[in-house]
Amino acid sequence: MALMKILTYPDAFLKKTAKPVTVFDDALKTLVQDMAETMYEEPGIGLAATQVGEDKRLFVMDVFYNNEDPESKKTPVAVINPEIIETSGESSIEEGCLSVPEFRAEVKRSAELVLRFQDMEQEIHELRAEGLMAICIQHENDHLNGKLFIDHLPPLKRRMVQNKLKKQATK
Ligand code: NI
Repeated sequence: MALMKILTYPDAFLKKTAKPVTVFDDALKTLVQDMAETMYEEPGIGLAATQVGEDKRLFVMDVFYNNEDPESKKTPVAVINPEIIETSGESSIEEGCLSVPEFRAEVKRSAELVLRFQDMEQEIHELRAEGLMAICIQHENDHLNGKLFIDHLPPLKRRMVQNKLKKQATK
């Protein structure tokens, strides 16, 4: 296993719409393992393939693991070719992103959703999610469509944040 480099704003790759996964081979397994390891190392609760420069509709998540609790168990989920097929309600929490370091903001999201996705064995699952998991799924799914959480901010605020991040990036 290996840690991967996470792309940060304004890297153009983060704007890419990722391609569906069609080959479920050992290389994909390795990629999923490396992404999970990288997610725990950072730490983050989700990581999309786009963020590590892989053009694939795939993300890993674990909203339950607490790295400050030695009893906490890692339960990474690999979500391949995700599709949000139902949403309801409204919710917002302060979000952050490994690709947007040192910035957090509240983003309006759906409170509940149903996610259809494939696992490593190509089996199709439907998962009903709410709370933090629903937020995480929407955030990671956005990455696969070239969208960052700051893209949800009102235009003026978004512009301010983008300028600040661009300045930071050139330092
Ligand atoms: Ni993110």
